[in-house]
Amino acid sequence: MVANASEYLSDYLTIALPKGKLFEPSAKLLAEAGLAADNLSDSSRKLVITNERDKVRFIISKTADVPTYVEYGAADIGVIGKDVLMESGQDVYELLDLGFGRCHLMMAVPKDKKREKLSDYANTRVATKFPHIAEKFFARNGMQMEYIKLNGSIELGPIVGLSESIVDIVETGTTLRENNLEEIVPIMNATARLIANRVSFRLKFERIHKLMTDIEAILKKRH
Ligand code: PRP
Repeated sequence: MVANASEYLSDYLTIALPKGKLFEPSAKLLAEAGLAADNLSDSSRKLVITNERDKVRFIISKTADVPTYVEYGAADIGVIGKDVLMESGQDVYELLDLGFGRCHLMMAVPKDKKREKLSDYANTRVATKFPHIAEKFFARNGMQMEYIKLNGSIELGPIVGLSESIVDIVETGTTLRENNLEEIVPIMNATARLIANRVSFRLKFERIHKLMTDIEAILKKRH
């Protein structure tokens, strides 16, 4: 009997990896755990890379789309920052904190336009890639804001007068410094997480559980 497409794919473990900063450490960690593929790179134009021998497929996607591929089961598992995962609100299992990609989300303003206290920014415009997280944060502080969604280079917002402030990721602090912005208040810490589709986690439990155990052992050795 000829296997249909879903039977064929169920033999494979499909992993969504984000392009950019998390790609290299994710690919390295998975390779250490025995999941690798030739020519796995986020700079290639090839978006699906398969290792037929080990029955592993890698999907290379835009960072913000990783939780979507995993929620809908197009990928069984994936690696994504906690910040992007929370913003997406996608319904997936969060399996492990991978420890790398450490950064934090914060609110920042131009140094020369700093106001006295947080509530002084109420009803002003904030530029961000994370409007949902930002909205929850400001609501907790009893503040209504106007959110302007940007997709990158968020720091530009207040410099060109698009917004009074930003809510964005800080890793080294270089981008803030180079653009004369100052952090006003931290919002949340984030690291990379291993996530899984809820159905895949049950159907491919042995394989995913073994991967989790292997990764935990690798992370333990690293510390
Ligand atoms: C992120 C973030 C900041 C920068 C912070 O942007 O949005 O701009 O990194 O890093 P730093 O504190 O080490 O300077 P990213 O490089 O992911 O690109 P983007 O601006 O296109 O989102």
